[in-house]
Amino acid sequence: MARIFSGIQPTGIAHLGNYLGAIQNWVALQEGNEGIYCLVDLHALTVWVEPEALRQQTRVNAALLVACGIDPARSILFHQSAVHAHARLAWIFNCVARFGWLNRMTQFKDKAGKDREAVSTGLFVYPNLMAADILAYHATEVPVGEDQSQHLELANDIAQKFNHDYGVEFFPAITPRIIGGSARIMSLRDGTRKMSKSDTSDQSRINLTDDADAIAQKIRRARTDPEPLPERPAQLDSRPEARNLVGIYAALAGITAEEVLRQHAGSGFGPFKERLTELAVQKLTPIGAETKRLAADPAEIDRMLQAGAARAAAIAEPIVAEAERLVGL
Ligand code: ADP
Ligand code: NA
Repeated sequence: MARIFSGIQPTGIAHLGNYLGAIQNWVALQEGNEGIYCLVDLHALTVWVEPEALRQQTRVNAALLVACGIDPARSILFHQSAVHAHARLAWIFNCVARFGWLNRMTQFKDKAGKDREAVSTGLFVYPNLMAADILAYHATEVPVGEDQSQHLELANDIAQKFNHDYGVEFFPAITPRIIGGSARIMSLRDGTRKMSKSDTSDQSRINLTDDADAIAQKIRRARTDPEPLPERPAQLDSRPEARNLVGIYAALAGITAEEVLRQHAGSGFGPFKERLTELAVQKLTPIGAETKRLAADPAEIDRMLQAGAARAAAIAEPIVAEAERLVGL
């Protein structure tokens, strides 16, 4: 039995990439492990977000996680700002991590773009808070999409430097659990960009609350090329959009890309998109309906999150109090 930690930003609505790259695995890992799943609202503040929208979306995404199969009675489900241990440990890590380490983070480079002078300092130290999220629980298993692997390496570097500087074996090593084929779902509009809540085009992603019409329309308009589906996955290497749709199909059906191509080689993308739509609608619309039902009772969601926060704090408080003692606070 391992202690698992993972988080999701409550900005916008969780999408198919979040589901296939993360949430689906969180649900499976609840079996036989201690799952701690966090709506990371402090991370959401690193870019501008309307205050009321953030509060609302935290609730909707909490409902969504439950609708996807996170069981709040078994796993710990809560929002980050409710457990102050995260921010306290993050400050210590701001002082452990080196500027040069953060400067190498490719996600910061992507998100900051050319105008580095204008981004928040929070965006720069985001990986330190992420390290604190995990290490405040002494969690050892972190199921994330492949986009987070560099941040997990950094978290391990921070843990090691802390242990070294203070002459203790206090923070454990973290094992990333990056799940192969479904680890990176790309934008429907551009096969070289990952599907993300921060993409300005809503056509680029399938939100988990999209209805059947929206799903069908987005898949129909997804970028592809005029070639039919080939026989082997390697033949998709120079066709990122086609490869992405095959990957999504495989992940939704729970089969490999080889199997998808065995079934559909020679088919054009017109008919393939129709099959993909059926699959996505069948898989996602029950999640959307259940989310809507749960989100209709915000007071109940708040109670659930508060109960989760109390359980989370009971684990994180003594660990972070000990970290504070170790550094001399
Ligand atoms: P976003 O980038 O959309 O804001 P988050 O940062 O909230 O998503 O990520 C939540 C989880 O979903 C993380 O584990 C992340 O690795 C995973 N994830 C995000 N986007 C994708 C994607 N396009 N494909 C696979 N996994 C993803
Ligand atoms: Na992200």
